[in-house]
Amino acid sequence: MPTETGDRSRESEVGRPRPGVGAGHARPAAHLDRAKVGRTPSSARDPLVALFALAAVLLALASSACRQDMHDQPKYIPLRPSDFFADGRSERPLAEGTVARGHLNGDAEYYTGKGPDGQPVEAFPFPVTKDIIERGGQRFDIYCAPCHGRLGDGGGMIVRRGFRRPPSYHIDRLRNAPSGYLYGVISSGFGAMQDYAAQIEPRDRWAIVAYVRALQLSQNASIGDVPPEAREQLEARK
Ligand code: HEC
Repeated sequence: MPTETGDRSRESEVGRPRPGVGAGHARPAAHLDRAKVGRTPSSARDPLVALFALAAVLLALASSACRQDMHDQPKYIPLRPSDFFADGRSERPLAEGTVARGHLNGDAEYYTGKGPDGQPVEAFPFPVTKDIIERGGQRFDIYCAPCHGRLGDGGGMIVRRGFRRPPSYHIDRLRNAPSGYLYGVISSGFGAMQDYAAQIEPRDRWAIVAYVRALQLSQNASIGDVPPEAREQLEARK
């Protein structure tokens, strides 16, 4: 039933003459149509329109042949050479003594994790507090755990689905690696691992390193690492 009604209504839509369209082109009705919509009959208009169109096309062709301003702009795209400067570079080096404003990043240890000798630093550039470690843990679970696993053993979900397996953080080499080295891996990437410089700001990178240190401790701790007053509590839980 509903189909039938639908069909019928569509049929009547199609069948109904549309105002203006059919009638406008019928020659005897042309004057009527003109009076109604104020249009010049197309028969009288066509040659004029065609002439204008032809003129426009010719003009466009003529002008595009000798002027390419929008195509060939007098500008340098990156790394394009230049005859203007003696060194042939369009990219100009910073003038000597230029001082960055807003992002000097002068604290090399903090921003690169490397000391003046170019070697990764052992110490953190700021005191590590419980807040920092907690922040690091949260960032770690977001950015690192998908591959490295929440324990840092390298068994994250992406690895279980086929991504290259990273080494465990609990191997001696990484346990003994300076903190600046771990910071460098986050900042610059390592082998198959991309860098996280764009996603994680320096302070959070250090916070993650602090958390990785905590993870490493957690998997290699002995009873000697537990403060005496907490030992009893631990023994009691056994
Ligand atoms: C997309 C997966 C992935 C993510 C996410 C990831 N890593 Fe890795 N990571 C790897 C892989 C794979 C390797 C081993 C790369 C290789 O050996 O080529 C690796 C290696 C490492 C290493 C060891 C470098 C060495 O000297 O062997 C460290 C440290 C590390 N990642 C830290 C991190 C930290 C911290 C994060 C979070 C900010 C992180 N990774 C996020 C995949 C990942």
